[in-house]
Amino acid sequence: MRMPRLVSKKLQASDARHFVGNTMFDRCARATCAAGVNMPKKELLENWTLASMIHDRHWRGTAPPARVVDVASGHGLLGWFLLALCSASQRPAVFAVDRRMPDSAAALRDSFGEAFPALPARHRYVVADAADVDARGGDTLVLALHACGGLSDLVIDAAVGGGASLCLVPCCHSLKTAKMAPERLAAARRAVDGGAGLDDALDGQRVAYLEERGMVVDATKLPEDITPKNTVLFAAPGVAAPRSRTTAVPIFGAAPRALPRPPSAWRSLT
Ligand SMILES: C[S@@+](CC[C@H](N)C(=O)[O-])C[C@H]1O[C@@H](n2cnc3c(N)ncnc32)[C@H](O)[C@@H]1O
Repeated sequence: MRMPRLVSKKLQASDARHFVGNTMFDRCARATCAAGVNMPKKELLENWTLASMIHDRHWRGTAPPARVVDVASGHGLLGWFLLALCSASQRPAVFAVDRRMPDSAAALRDSFGEAFPALPARHRYVVADAADVDARGGDTLVLALHACGGLSDLVIDAAVGGGASLCLVPCCHSLKTAKMAPERLAAARRAVDGGAGLDDALDGQRVAYLEERGMVVDATKLPEDITPKNTVLFAAPGVAAPRSRTTAVPIFGAAPRALPRPPSAWRSLT
């Protein structure tokens, strides 16, 4: 699916002129523009929307996670947005993990450090493989936005193995690259043969696997006009008795969250 042209253009440093207010979104958007990262505009909106969803879910309660591990973080924008949203709280420390640190990650660190001087002390970029993430110790939230193919399953295993909470947006769904048990892959294949979409078939198996491991899962969506790969799987260790099943279930309950309004001037770009 092609992105609407409104959000398919690249973010320019000069776009900061559209974010002159003093809301946290404006301040974060200005810091992002100032970094001069050559990212599609849609990434500003999708990272902000997901960070807001995570903040609302975990930082409105009494015991927010102490540690956030943003796996396959790329430029790491999600972690900076989350830290900015949580700046009134002592928590979390954010660890961005990727097997490669792009130059854009350093540029974002500089620009967010300038805009929010207290935040860099709470942020570390770790060059490592997702398979080596150790999320044990309690109080940890494992994130991954657009974890491609089987990387989503590595992220799930990091959360499950560590007894951590999870927020995962899977991407690049494929029966070939998914790292699932053969019976789960077979169940996903049967679902596809029966007419289910590939994304739902694989993510349904991911939900079933998480529940089998005692996680309580809540699936929702990012707005589709921002990203077509928009399933969001929230999960947390639960007290529910683990179940074993391979039947894919309808997983989407909550309504998509509203986007921050894109600057009206961006419309003239279409
Ligand atoms: C599609 S990008 C997503 C980046 C970022 N989360 C975002 O949404 O902009 C996927 C990222 O996964 C990283 N990656 C791929 N395989 C990985 C692995 N096994 N361990 C750690 N990072 C990995 C890549 O380097 C890349 O930065």
